[in-house]
Amino acid sequence: RAWPLVDPFGRAISYLRVSVTDRCDFRCVYCMSEDMSFLPKGDLLTLEELDRLCSAFIARGTRKLRLTGGEPLVRRNIMRLFEGLARHLDSGALDELTLTTNGSRLAFFAPELAACGVRRVNVSLDSRDPEKFRTITRRGDLGRVLAGIDAAQAAGLDVKINMVALKGVNEDEIVPMIGWAHARGMDLTLIEVMPMGAVEPDRLDQYLPLPQVRAEIAKHYTLRDLAYGTGGPARYVEVAETGGRLGFITPLTHNFCESCNRVRVTCTGTLYMCLGQEDAADLRAPLRASSENTLLNTAIEEAITRKPKGHDFRIDRAHKAPAVPRHMSVTGG
Ligand code: GTP
Ligand code: 5AD
Ligand code: SF4
Repeated sequence: RAWPLVDPFGRAISYLRVSVTDRCDFRCVYCMSEDMSFLPKGDLLTLEELDRLCSAFIARGTRKLRLTGGEPLVRRNIMRLFEGLARHLDSGALDELTLTTNGSRLAFFAPELAACGVRRVNVSLDSRDPEKFRTITRRGDLGRVLAGIDAAQAAGLDVKINMVALKGVNEDEIVPMIGWAHARGMDLTLIEVMPMGAVEPDRLDQYLPLPQVRAEIAKHYTLRDLAYGTGGPARYVEVAETGGRLGFITPLTHNFCESCNRVRVTCTGTLYMCLGQEDAADLRAPLRASSENTLLNTAIEEAITRKPKGHDFRIDRAHKAPAVPRHMSVTGG
C-alpha cells in the first residue's frame, strides 16, 4: 500500500475529487449565475495530464477518486480518462472510481462507465416536477435525467441522488423524494446550500437548515442513526419504513471537517485543500515542468501541510457576500 498523505491535524487524505471541466449544460440557481464565463479551453489540463495527476495521488494513498465538474460528462472524450484510470482498480491501488453528474448525458454514458469499473454514481436531482426542475436548473430537461438514472440502474450501477434543500422551492418534495428514491433502491442525500460564488438569488432566501427538515421527515418516517458512511461528509440514517438510506450533508448546521479525508483539484490543476477556503496550490506548473513526478510530489506534500482545520461557511444577515468567491463548479464540491 502507498504511503499516505497525512495533514497537520492527523487526517489521512485518501479521497481525491477532480473537476474535469468548469462547464455545465445546466445553470442551477444555487450553483451558477445566469451569465457564467468559463475558462478558455486551452487553460485546461489535458486528459493525459489529468491521468498523471490522479495517478500521482493514487501513488500517495488516494483510495477513492471522484470526477466532478461542472458536469464531467460534457468534457470531450472523458471516457478515455475513465478507461485509463480503471487500471488502478484492476491493480488494487484504488477502491473506488466514481463521478457526480447532473444526469443529462448519463443515458448515453452509463454502459461505458459500468464497463470501466465504475460501480456507483451520484446524480443531482432537486425536483421531480418538470417545471420546477426547469426553474432550478434553468436549462435542464427532467425527462433526460430520469432516463439517465434508468440507464445507470439498467447498467448495474448503484445510484445515489443528491438533492440540495431549497427553502420554499423543493421543500415540499423532500418527503416524496425519499419514497421515490428508496422504492427504486437508491440512497438519497440532502444538502445544505453553501455560499460559494455569486448567484442571483439571496442565499438567505435559499437556505433551508437540515435539522428542521429532519424534524419534518420524522413526522412521516422512522429514522434510525447509522454509524457508517460512504467516506463522504454525509451522516446517514436508515428509514425504517423503506429500509433505504438517507444522508444529510450539513456544512452550515453541523460541521464535519474533523473527519475530512479529501482534497480537490480543479480542471486547471489547482489544488484546493478545503472546499470552503481560498488557499490553493498550483500543480500544473510542476506537472508540466518535468515528465517525472518529483516536483509534483513535493508540491502536493507541501500543500497538504497547509490543509486548514475546516471551512467557515455562514449564511446570515451579517454575511451577505459569498464565503468563497469561486463557484462550486470550479472545485466540483
Ligand atoms: P459519497 O459520500 O461518496 O457518495 O460522495 P459525496 O456525497 O461526498 O459526494 P457528492 O459529489 O455527491 O457531493 C455531495 C455534496 O457534498 C456536494 O454538495 C458537495 O459539495 C458536498 N461535499 C463533498 N465534500 C465536501 C466537503 O469536504 N465539504 C463540504 N462543505 N461539502 C462537501
Ligand atoms: N451548495 C450546495 N450544493 C451545491 N451543489 C452545487 N452548488 C452547490 C452549493 N452552492 C451540489 C450539486 C451537486 C453537488 C456536486 O453539489 O447539486 O449535487
Ligand atoms: Fe451544473 Fe451541477 Fe452546477 Fe447544476 S449544480 S449548474 S448541474 S455543475
